[in-house]
Amino acid sequence: ALAATSAASTPASTPGGAAPGNPASDSAAGGAPALTSLGAHAYPFHGAHQAGIVQPMQARMLSTAFDLTAGTGRPGLTSLMKRWSAAAAAMAEGRTPPGLTDDDTALDAGPSSLTVTFGFGAPVFAKAGLAARLPAALAPLPPFPEDALDRRRSDGDLWVQVCADDALVAFHAMRTLQRLAAGAATVRWQMSGFSRSPGATAQPRTGRNLMGQIDGTNNPKPTDSTFDARVFVPAEPDAGKGQPAWMAGGSYAVFRRIRMLLDHWDQQTTDRQEQVIGRHKASGAPLSGGAETTPVDLAKLTPDGALAIPGDAHIRVATPDANQGAAMLRRGYSYHDGLRADGSPDAGLLFVAFQSDPLTGFVPVQRKLARADALSVFIAHESSGLYAVPGGAADPSGYVGQALLE
Ligand code: HEM
Repeated sequence: ALAATSAASTPASTPGGAAPGNPASDSAAGGAPALTSLGAHAYPFHGAHQAGIVQPMQARMLSTAFDLTAGTGRPGLTSLMKRWSAAAAAMAEGRTPPGLTDDDTALDAGPSSLTVTFGFGAPVFAKAGLAARLPAALAPLPPFPEDALDRRRSDGDLWVQVCADDALVAFHAMRTLQRLAAGAATVRWQMSGFSRSPGATAQPRTGRNLMGQIDGTNNPKPTDSTFDARVFVPAEPDAGKGQPAWMAGGSYAVFRRIRMLLDHWDQQTTDRQEQVIGRHKASGAPLSGGAETTPVDLAKLTPDGALAIPGDAHIRVATPDANQGAAMLRRGYSYHDGLRADGSPDAGLLFVAFQSDPLTGFVPVQRKLARADALSVFIAHESSGLYAVPGGAADPSGYVGQALLE
């Protein structure tokens, strides 16, 4: 019954379908049981944008920053991006990655919606002799009040995000990419996150974070007319706005490890928790009324004349001015790395936000949040990264970063 439930509640359409060479298609000949639609589901690696941005969130995420090893210049970086792209493309189809002896950790599984997303951190440009091509948007994020950043777990020359609906598939992909980096780049930091497993809820719905809130409701939707402009650098970048031509179809990822002070949070009444966010905990509906997706009415007053959504509620402070909704696509995952020395959970949100320009997306919003958000006393920003995520490799013979490196 479990298998039937999970198969029935995974996406009905499987764009990649059972890819050639993966066990789903082998099974017809071999008579082995077919993969569930969860295992067989695939997202194409190739396209105008990299995968792992607009796709619905998978159950697992691994995020790793790499630093180039001394002596890896532009040729070494180019060769690494070629190896990585070829491996990511193969694994996205459930094929064995070329270039090494496979460790077999994903042997029995299909692609399980694997996506691999590559980004470039600011320091890589000078190291690869590409300083002239550093985008203005990669200027260091300003320090925010209350930041408690661990620089060893921040930044990095390269950033790789792996997402999949299966933990072994995600491990295999990240481990493979790490092995392929041997000699060219070493791991600077690595973190793992999780989200809802497909099939865990009666119908697909917005996930919850570790504070128990429905999180992601007011994200920009791919169907919004403004979605592409907010999330992606245009196909023809505007040099006048400082957009380099090589970033066509790309995006900028802001990464923040944000620990939640859950012992403190759990002492609050549900009513107080709802005031902090501005939404009901169970339904995700705004305190101004309606259901989860009802537009937020920031002007709404309670019968006694108070703001229905308090002045310091997270959703009021986070809403960008001009009332156009969030100018970034949040795609964060929960993390839980055991307990800290004081016994409190080392847990929170691996916040990831994609935007066409961090200076109009993350930066002004975080500036306001750090000053005025009621949530701030329940969280601690522990690490930070900003990465240029180039457009996708549209051509199967191409690789991510080609327009920068060639
Ligand atoms: C909305 C939680 C950090 C930006 C929300 C919502 C929740 C939430 C529950 C309402 C549902 C939704 O629309 O998604 C959290 C938690 C955080 C966190 C628990 C930290 C652990 C951040 C950060 C930023 C941010 C660092 C950006 C700097 C936003 C935005 C919205 C939002 C833009 C949508 C506001 C709107 O227009 O309605 N967040 N958030 N959040 N959050 Fe956060």
